[in-house]
Order: sequence, then C-alpha cells, then structure tokens
Amino acid sequence: MCGIISALSYENNVSDSLISALSRLEYRGYDSAGIAYLDENSQLQRIRTVGKVQYLRNAVEKSNINSCIGIGHTRWATHGKVTEFNAHPHVADGVAIVHNGIIENYQELRQKLVSEGYKFESETDTEVVAKLTASHIKSGKNFVDAFKHSIGELIGTFAIVAIYEKSPDTLLGAKKGSPMAVGISPDKKSAYIASDAVALSTLADELTYLEEGDIVVVTKGEQISYTIFDMQNNIVNRQKVLNKVSLTDMSKSGYETFMLKEIYEEAIVARRTYDSYKYDIDVSKFDNVSIIACGTSFYAGVLAKYWIEKYAKIPVDVEIASEFRYRNAVLRKNSLYIFISQSGETIDTLCAMRLVKENGMKTMALVNVDSSSIAREADYVIKTEAGVEIGVASTKAFIAQILSILIMFIGKENINIDAIEKAINSVLNAGFDFARIAKKLAGGRSFFYIGRGTSYPIALEGALKIKELTYVSAEGYPSGELKHGPIAIIDEDVFTIALAPFDQYFEKTISNTQEILARDGKVLLITTEDATASLGMFKNNANIECVFLKQNEDKYYPFALTTLIHLLAYYTAKSKGYDVDKPRNLAKSVTVE
Ligand code: F6R
Repeated sequence: MCGIISALSYENNVSDSLISALSRLEYRGYDSAGIAYLDENSQLQRIRTVGKVQYLRNAVEKSNINSCIGIGHTRWATHGKVTEFNAHPHVADGVAIVHNGIIENYQELRQKLVSEGYKFESETDTEVVAKLTASHIKSGKNFVDAFKHSIGELIGTFAIVAIYEKSPDTLLGAKKGSPMAVGISPDKKSAYIASDAVALSTLADELTYLEEGDIVVVTKGEQISYTIFDMQNNIVNRQKVLNKVSLTDMSKSGYETFMLKEIYEEAIVARRTYDSYKYDIDVSKFDNVSIIACGTSFYAGVLAKYWIEKYAKIPVDVEIASEFRYRNAVLRKNSLYIFISQSGETIDTLCAMRLVKENGMKTMALVNVDSSSIAREADYVIKTEAGVEIGVASTKAFIAQILSILIMFIGKENINIDAIEKAINSVLNAGFDFARIAKKLAGGRSFFYIGRGTSYPIALEGALKIKELTYVSAEGYPSGELKHGPIAIIDEDVFTIALAPFDQYFEKTISNTQEILARDGKVLLITTEDATASLGMFKNNANIECVFLKQNEDKYYPFALTTLIHLLAYYTAKSKGYDVDKPRNLAKSVTVE
C-alpha cells in the first residue's frame, strides 16, 4: 500500500521519472499523490494533489521543474483523511519524507516533538519521521546519522525515503516490514529507491531488495553509488536481481482497461501456468494441508480444499491470514503450510508465514511476484505465472493460483490443459451480451452469489469482485445455506447469481433457485448447455435469465465460471461508470494490517 519512488541524478529532470513511476505505482493507492524535490538553488519544494496521479502530473507540468533529486508518493490513507495536508511528502526544516506502512508509536513521538516546539500540519503518522529527523539534525547530527537515529526510534512497519536540502547529493531509504528496492540506471547517471520493481520498470534493469532493518544511502560524487547498512549498522552486500517487469506488462495492449486485458489473458495464463510448472513436490508425505491467505487468494485456497480432499484425499484447512496469526492456532506437525498471495507483500499473509516458520515448520509460498517478501522468506516457492497484474481487483492471478494447486496435488498428467484453455476461451469468445445483462444487474440493491461444491468458492470470488467494483453489497453463499437466514433479504430488488453447471449438485442448486424465485427475487442462472432440457420449469418466468457455458469435465467448471463472473463484475461496474482499474478505497498491495 502506498507507492514510493525517489531519484538522485546527474540530470536535472528527475520530476519526469518521479511522475512516470507514480503513474505505474498508482495501483498501490490513489487517494492523493505528491512529490518533493530540491530546486536549482537547493531549496526544498513540494507539490501535492488529492486524487489520482494525473492531477499531480498536471500540477507538475505547470511548474517547470529543474531538479536532480526528488521523492514521490501515491497514498492509500491510513492515518488521517484524504486531504492535501495529509498527502505525502511531509516536511520539516528542509527534510522531506515519504512513507509506506504504519508507525505504531507515532503519538508518543509526536508529543515529544510538540514539546520541543514542532508544529504538525497533518494527522498522519508519517510527519513525525520528518520532524524527528529534523530534530536530530538540529541537535548536531549529519543527515545520514539523524535519519538512522530516527529510524531506530520507530516501532511499526515502514518503507521510508528522505531528502534534505543541505545534503543535495544524498538520498536515503529505510525498510522494515514494507518492501523497498534500489537500482541504478543503465547509463549510471541516476539512482532510484522505490517500493517495487514496477516503479523501476523503465528506470533500472538491475535491482537490490533491502532486507529487514536495512538502510540505504545513495550518494552522488564522481559517480552515483549506494551503500546498504544492516540493523547493526554494518555495511552489507545484498544480491542484485534482474528487473523482469517490462513495458509491455505495464501497457493495456489496446484494451480499454487493465482489468479487461487481464481477464482476456486468463486462457493464456492457464496455458503458461501448465507449461512452466516444473515443481516436483511429494504431497503424499503430508498428513494434512493448511492454506493461509487473504481475499481472492483465500478463495483460491477454499477451492483448493475441495479439489485436494476429493482427489488427493488429504484433509485441508483454509484460513484467513489476519485471523490465523492472532488466534493462537495449534500448529500441526507434518502439515504442509501453503501461503497464497498474488503480490507476495500482503502483510497478514507474510506475518502468518513468519509465525509458522518461527514454530519450526516449513512453509510453501504460492506467489506471483518472485522478488516479493513472501517469496524471499518462504522455504519453498511456487511461482504462479499470471504475469504482472495491474488492475486492483485480482483476476488472472486467481486462475494461475487454482491451476498451480490443482497440478501440485493431482499431477500434470491428470490435467487436460486443452480443455481448460478451451473452457476459458469459450467464455471470452461466446459473445454473451454482457452489456445488457450488466445493465440489468446494475439496478440491483444487493447481490447473492450462490453455488455448491467447487462452484461455492467461485460464488465467493464473484461476490467479492462485484462488491469491490460496483460498491453494492454482495454475499457469496453455499446454495444450501440461504434458507438459514439470508433468504430473508430476498425481494424483487435483490439479484442472485446462481452458479449451477450440470454436475452432481445441479438439481439442488436449482431447487434453491426456485426458492428465490418464489420470493420474487431475480436470478441470473449460470449453467451449462447440457442442462437445457432440465430447465423447463423456468420457461416464461421473467425473473430468471440463463447463461449457458459449454459442457466440460466437472473439475474444469471453476475455470469457465471464474472468467464469466470476472466479466460480469467488470461490465456491471462499467455500466455504472466506475473506474474498474482503481475501485475506491482500495489498493493492490496490502502492506498494512
Ligand atoms: C480482490 C483482491 C484482494 C486480494 C487480497 C490478497 O480482487 O485483489 O482481495 O486478493 O488483497 O492479495 P494478495 O493475493 O496479493 O496477497
């Protein structure tokens, strides 16, 4: 959450790099954006705007900036409302700071600084870091030492970068809990510190990821270079890795939005996941499996439970990471602990994984970003092959997650990838009139997504997608559970999306659908072509509409259903005129608890 970029250069156009990186980082938060830089007279300047990076870009373009050093930030608000005062960077006596994470002891530090005479202009936890550094400089420390001292006083999680107007050739960064990478441009004229590889995609080919407690000092002398200090203040060498994020990954490739592009990549992602899966894991040696994740990744885990128990006959628990880490869970010996995360940075999943490791268990991460914190800390890593996912709502990553798990537990040889690819493509190419259906759905007061068996996790995913994109409440339910309470909500303004392929559960979900229709609820039934003959009872019922998927093997229905519910959420949000790539209040990489 929150995107960070900073640059130190021999060229005087760092504002261009800052703004272009912030545009790429917008998926990390878009409540406000800002930059701070030293102008040609080494005076600290700051520009901040509320809302998307485009507003900041407009303001920066009017400012005619000549600067060799600067920092930038896109904010996902934690402490304090979405206002310009709360937008980063925060400043104090020539020091400017941007921050991702949460400073837990900020109240205490703030009181101390207020008693020293500092006045605060924001409600943020970040501003204390700027004031604290300024206060240490005032007491006689140089910029680097003042920063190191300040960082040592912070409790919480953070990635912070700082500049100071009396040290125009020094850029500083610190990492604890939130990711941070440093890189130098191929022409060696500029160095950057950023919150991820995406920010640096056009700027640096090689990156060094900081480790917990590291501080990086970037300096400009005869050449640009950086030195990394560990928690004990020793100079350390951290491994350099190639920045694999390319410009194509960052482009919409002709699609109107990233989300649509990413849904249309779902079949390719399935094929790539299958082709590149080379892991050899003997799952039979484990007595049970625990899957821990958040959001859409958690739903991939719920689906995995159905498959693993059915095909591999191993008992599976699936847990929400934020609950698992605090509920004094009893860890089981000889259990395979799997952590699923697209970003690899979700703090709850990361901390749950650390907890399992601390208890002496081995951990396996299923992650899409192999340079991420979760990937770097796990004992074993399975890289999902979704490619870069930019749309804030996760789509293609889910496909890569569920297929990777299916392969892991039943083996490639037992999977017909052609059938999966065909199933997804048949949805993408079916020519369903999504615009018309979406218009109908857009009138709903709320939604239920129901399903049984493996359709149930997809119902959960469908409900999450529609609520996060259309801001209407939606619940995913096992079809059989509606009558135990939720059916009280049903009336003519409630839409139920019933996921009922012609499998062993079909008849039962159809009965539940009838219970909804009997109470004037509206239903969109997603079923398969082979069910047509069994749907006579719905003839002439204006409250139900059916969408037919191609017939397939039962275990592949989740793939086609996923693509369908993703498109449905997409078009419903579009018909309401919402920004599907950046739904309100969200961010893609959730690095706060
Ligand atoms: C929903 C969505 C989120 C993420 C969740 C976990 O569309 O994107 O629910 O799935 O924040 O993120 P990762 O998978 O990065 O750990």
